[in-house]
Amino acid sequence: MTHPSRAIRIQAYGGPEQLELVHTEVGEPGPGEIRIRHHAVGLNYIDVYQRTGLYGNPLPLALGMEGAGVVEAVGEGVSHLQVGDRAAYASQPPGSYCERRVMPAKCVCKLPDAISFDEGAAMMLKGLTTQYLLRQTQPQGGLKAGDFILFHAAAGGVGLIACQWAKAMGLQMIGTAGSDDKCALARELGASHTINYRSEDFVARVKEITGGQGVKAVYDSVGADTFMKSLDCLQPFGLLATYGNASGKVPPLDIGVLAAKGSLYVTRPTLFTHIATRERTQAMADDLFAMVTSGQVKIRIDQRYKLEDVAQAHRDLEARKTTGCTILTV
Ligand SMILES: NC(=O)c1ccc[n+]([C@@H]2O[C@H](COP(=O)([O-])OP(=O)(O)OC[C@H]3O[C@@H](n4cnc5c(N)ncnc54)[C@H](OP(=O)(O)O)[C@@H]3O)[C@@H](O)[C@H]2O)c1
Repeated sequence: MTHPSRAIRIQAYGGPEQLELVHTEVGEPGPGEIRIRHHAVGLNYIDVYQRTGLYGNPLPLALGMEGAGVVEAVGEGVSHLQVGDRAAYASQPPGSYCERRVMPAKCVCKLPDAISFDEGAAMMLKGLTTQYLLRQTQPQGGLKAGDFILFHAAAGGVGLIACQWAKAMGLQMIGTAGSDDKCALARELGASHTINYRSEDFVARVKEITGGQGVKAVYDSVGADTFMKSLDCLQPFGLLATYGNASGKVPPLDIGVLAAKGSLYVTRPTLFTHIATRERTQAMADDLFAMVTSGQVKIRIDQRYKLEDVAQAHRDLEARKTTGCTILTV
């Protein structure tokens, strides 16, 4: 038996005009899989990289890596989910831009009743990313209350979750953003200092804010435009986590630069290594759910679009018009 769904696909890499709505039929889950009926779907910058071909996914490609809804069917060997469960996920393979799908159950988590479907869809990929960055991607000796960190794109989806999470950890987060309004928003949500990196020299400002010391860690998702300057914001032995490329891919690095700038560490992490097993995924999700249900992290959904309006959602995200999280309603 099959079940109808509307989904977004691309046949070729390119701009938002490549996103097309198709009608599909979805079957039964196989071993280790579930079928989920989405209530909402999350939009992420990785969807743009996949659409443009930066990550080289095979075509044709169903897009989307985050969603929330109700479990409709459970395949053999899946014991952590039951039919009727409220659930949410960040997961490979792409394909969440749809009404219903069959997918691996491994990264799908039961959603606490206190968290809405919209919040679940908005927060899983961005919240689990913040979890692994701030809790698991730390400089030598760790991070403790009072330490300075620099977090780029602080008013974005990951960024506004990070502002609140860093504040809860007692960190002094210096957030960068592309406008004064975005900077004000990041401060409202918990950044202790902000820098408009379109109008200010962020290296000079970081030095000024930290009394010349620099920060212990930089979390950089902007990529090409910021990477080298981010290294200049670090204390000796500091850590640069370069985890995204919104402005373009980071060019190859002459590794000797790390010695010259103070025995620095650089890592290029991805969420998908961190959520490679069911156990790791659930442990990280439990931490995220606790941060949200306790009110320490609020999930701001600043943009909502209908599934069929996904091209406009992509245009707005790429034009830096969005703040916080964006969801597609299905
Ligand atoms: N490696 C991982 O595990 C992982 C997981 C999740 C997300 N990420 C990365 O984290 C970043 C944030 O993801 P998100 O979905 O929450 O997106 P987002 O932060 O809501 O949107 C991206 C932001 O990047 C900033 N930006 C700077 N230069 C830009 C440019 N040239 N073009 C477009 N935007 C630019 C913009 O903010 P301003 O206008 O304030 O500069 C924009 O709003 C992305 O780079 C994403 O790929 C990585």
